[in-house]
Amino acid sequence: MHDLHELKRRAGEAIAQAKTLDALEAVRVAYLGRKGVLTELLRGLKELSLEARKTAGAELNALRSHFEEIIAQRRGQLSVAAAKHVFMFDPTKPGTKAHTGSLHPLSQIDEMIRSIFISMNFSVVEGSEAEREFYNFDALNIPPNHPARDMWDTFWLKVPEHNRKLGRWLLRTHTSPMQIRYMEQHKPPFQIIVPGRVFRYEALDASHEFNFSQVEGLMVGSDVTLSHFKFIIETFLKRLFGDQVMFRFRPSYFPFVEPGVEVDVKLKGSWLELMGAGMVHHRVFDAVHYDPNMQGFAFGMGLERLAMILYNIPDIRLFYMGDVRFTRQFS
Ligand code: PHE
Repeated sequence: MHDLHELKRRAGEAIAQAKTLDALEAVRVAYLGRKGVLTELLRGLKELSLEARKTAGAELNALRSHFEEIIAQRRGQLSVAAAKHVFMFDPTKPGTKAHTGSLHPLSQIDEMIRSIFISMNFSVVEGSEAEREFYNFDALNIPPNHPARDMWDTFWLKVPEHNRKLGRWLLRTHTSPMQIRYMEQHKPPFQIIVPGRVFRYEALDASHEFNFSQVEGLMVGSDVTLSHFKFIIETFLKRLFGDQVMFRFRPSYFPFVEPGVEVDVKLKGSWLELMGAGMVHHRVFDAVHYDPNMQGFAFGMGLERLAMILYNIPDIRLFYMGDVRFTRQFS
């Protein structure tokens, strides 16, 4: 009798003091499990006389039901506490920052460029990535077999027979074909930019991608000169790099401009090549049947290059890897 009293007291205490569901389960196993204290006692009943077995059996079974009941009760309490712990909202704790996603650095640059040129009354137009040889080359004063074609390593497209009358097709190697397409449809004066994706058949390395982005610019009117270009590009560079930016024009060659220049910016003591530009070549105006007295400037620059300069990005391939450790740095 005394033993059972003591047993009930000890088990009751252990159950009440179990702090977690796991601890409670350990107590249950210790008393009611296959080798539990109470189970052993019940097993021992068969050693007793019939009479003794009756009373002791009734007492032990009552004790077992009692244990089961208070264990279930305690389990209920602990489950509620555990659930509360999980869902508990503590307004005094610092919050965890939710990552909401952000624009890719190239999209950010693209938006900056658009808004700067829109503020100078440029219109934004876009062209298609699959282009005809005529627009990408011939109309831009780059005839077949002209050595200047080597400047653009080209992905040629296979086209079905019925489309061959339009000549060969390719993935545009620059955004310049939109100069021709736009001038075919519009009369000057106008000023446009053409952001878009371009393709070159190139081996990949830290500064070469076979797919990258350009922005083309074109301004045409009867009295547009290179000084207009200088003002426009100065405004653009100041907005991007700050008022102290230094830049220079260097003579260069592109078949569709004359004279042609390269625009460099000075950053951290060294000159970096940023874009090609120049006055639109008269043969380009011929190709779109413009008045030969028309004047205009055109420029083209790579967005990745600009982003690499602005954000100190060491490898052009990072833009297209889709690695969030890279893109998250621009949120
Ligand atoms: N289309 C030239 C290139 O991709 C850049 C350029 C555009 C140069 C317009 C002059 C004028 O290299």
